[in-house]
Formats: sequence, structure tokens, C-alpha cells
Amino acid sequence: MRAAITAVGGYVPEKILTNKELENMVDTSDEWIQSRTGIKERRILEDGKATSDICVEAIKQILEKRKINVQEIDLIIVATVTPDHVFPATANIVSHKIGAINSWGFDMSAACSGFLYALDTGAKFIESGKHKKVIVCGADKMSAIVDYQDRNTCVIFGDGGGAVLLESSEDEDGIIDSILKSDGIGLDYLHQKAGGSLHPPTHETIDKRMHYVFQEGKTVFKFAVTNMAEVSREIMDRNNLTGDDIDFLCAHQANLRIIDATAKRMELDEHKVLINIKKYGNTTAGTIPLLFSDFESKFKKGDNIVLAAFGGGFTWGAIYLKWAYNSQ
Ligand code: ACO
Repeated sequence: MRAAITAVGGYVPEKILTNKELENMVDTSDEWIQSRTGIKERRILEDGKATSDICVEAIKQILEKRKINVQEIDLIIVATVTPDHVFPATANIVSHKIGAINSWGFDMSAACSGFLYALDTGAKFIESGKHKKVIVCGADKMSAIVDYQDRNTCVIFGDGGGAVLLESSEDEDGIIDSILKSDGIGLDYLHQKAGGSLHPPTHETIDKRMHYVFQEGKTVFKFAVTNMAEVSREIMDRNNLTGDDIDFLCAHQANLRIIDATAKRMELDEHKVLINIKKYGNTTAGTIPLLFSDFESKFKKGDNIVLAAFGGGFTWGAIYLKWAYNSQ
């Protein structure tokens, strides 16, 4: 049995933070940000709202589109590095907020590759026949862990995310192959220093601004360019796909230059490369489901789509799927 995405939803908050506004907060410029990353603006979630609220909005769209009752949901997986709380899992909170009383759930932490990890995991519950309806969310409230005094990171990230419904496929469409990888060497280059069990919160950790994202951008960039391009090529080769066979690349939106390098390695025409980084920045686990939600109307049943991501850990991977429906 194959698992297929049968509905998608996406949500970004209304509040926009532009590059121009960031110019007044740190020593940066709209020109630098756009030319180095491709980002023009990003969304910021209001105080009092959390990652679970992004997931809830996305799931509501799925229930409406697919016309299913919330009680039919068997499992909810939330990929995020900004859970509402350290525990319980955000998936439990989402489940409670939408009233999915017949579901269980858990969170997955794989930074920008989180959605791919969660999608592949969710697919296994469908393929095994254990569950009929699995919701996979990828969402992050990055503004909760971004230091708006650090120009190296604050220009990159934004808030948002999305969700997909997985069901069994009635034909050959659905998730066909996946390659997921990790290498703990990435810890030194991309992490949040405090807040976990190594450095629990203290006055000192707060004074030293240790609860924010730290990134050594240049090193992460090099690993990202190489690995995302390699893994995308690898999944093409082992499924005998050429650039002509692929209809769309949905790549993690961290930096336009990383996406371009991946598309080049895959020998893809520009129009097949889906991009929304300009509007949202890097929403970590949120970028790929947000691409689905923004570009759903372009997808036709049977389209060959490659998903690719690289993120903190390091974590990276690619998934090859055939889109399972024509959107209305
Ligand atoms: N505005 C102006 N100048 C800046 C800014 C800014 N916002 N940020 C950095 N600079 C400066 C630096 O200080 C440096 O100055 P120097 O030469 O005087 O030292 C110069 O610009 C170049 O800095 P780099 O870090 O080399 O810039 P780079 O071109 O590498 O771009 C970026 C930085 C955008 C972060 C890039 O390295 C990148 O995209 N890295 C990969 C990000 C990624 O994929 N992360 C993984 C996913 S995220 C996750 O998993 C949570």
C-alpha cells in the first residue's frame, strides 16, 4: 500500500516584518538581504499565539477541503523546533484544540528537514495499514527563538507552516521513495545553546542571550549546497528520473542560492522550481507544506514532485512522490 497526500493546508500570520523595518533594528540593508538570501519580508506571529495555532489553522483547511470529520484522524505528527512547551508535545495540544479525540500524536525535531522526516514517518503508518488518516504538520514560530539584535540570523527567519493529510493511495500515486540523512557534526554550526537539559534556563543563560538561534552561516551554507543537491540527484538516479521527468521541485526555502544550486544539479527548468522565500523567509519545518499550500492549484494528478531539505543537526533528505489529485 502506498501513502498519498490527499489534502493540504497552510497558514502564515498577518503581521509582516519587511527588510526595510529590519534596517531600523540591525545594521543591514534590503539590498544585502535580497541579494544574499532572496527574502523581502517575513511573517511574525502575535504574542500569546504559538506553533500549535499555526497547525490548527492549517488542519482546519484540510478538514474543510477533504470534507472529513475531525474524529476520523488517527495520528497527528508535528515537525517543529519551536514547540509550544518543552513538554507535552505540540501534537497533543493541536489534537486537543481541534477536538481530534480519536488520535494520538508526537513531535519530531529535525529543524529544516523536520517536515520530510515527519512525512516519511507518517507514510509508514499508512503503508503498514495501521492507520487510515494521518496528519503531518510542519510549523515554526521562529520569532520565539530569533535574536532581533543579531543581523546574522534575524533577517532569515519567519513564522508559519502547514499540514498535509495522508491516506492510502488507490493507484500508483503517492510517496514512492525517500532518502533521509543526519550528521551530528552540524551541532557546532547551528543550534540553540540553552533551554535544554545541558543548559537549563538561568539568569546567566538569559544574560548571555543563549536562548536564541546561533548559526555560522557560511559553514552551514557550504554543507547545505552540497548535501541538498547530492541527495536530490541521488533520489532521481535511483528512480531513473531525468530533469525532464520531474514536474516540480519543492525545496526547503532557506536561501535562494541553495535552491538554485540544487535545481542546477537536477538539471531542472526554472519554471519547475517553486519559490515563496521572498514572502515568508525561512519558516524552518514550515517551508515545504507552505509551498504545497501556495502552489496546490498548479499540481495535477500524477505529477512527479521531488521534495528536498537541509537543516540543523545536520539533517537532510529528499522524497519522491507522485501527486495524487487535481485541486478543485
Ligand atoms: N546584513 C548585512 N551584512 C551581513 C548580514 C546582514 N543581515 N549578515 C551578515 N552580514 C555580513 C557578515 O558580517 C559578513 O561581513 P564580513 O565579511 O565583514 O565579515 C558578510 O556579511 C558575509 O557574511 P556571510 O555569513 O559570509 O554571508 P553569506 O553570504 O554566507 O550569507 C547566510 C549568510 C544568508 C546566512 C548564508 O550563509 C546562508 O544562507 N546559510 C545557510 C542557511 C541554511 O541553510 N540554514 C539551514 C536551515 S536553518 C535551520 O535548520 C533552523
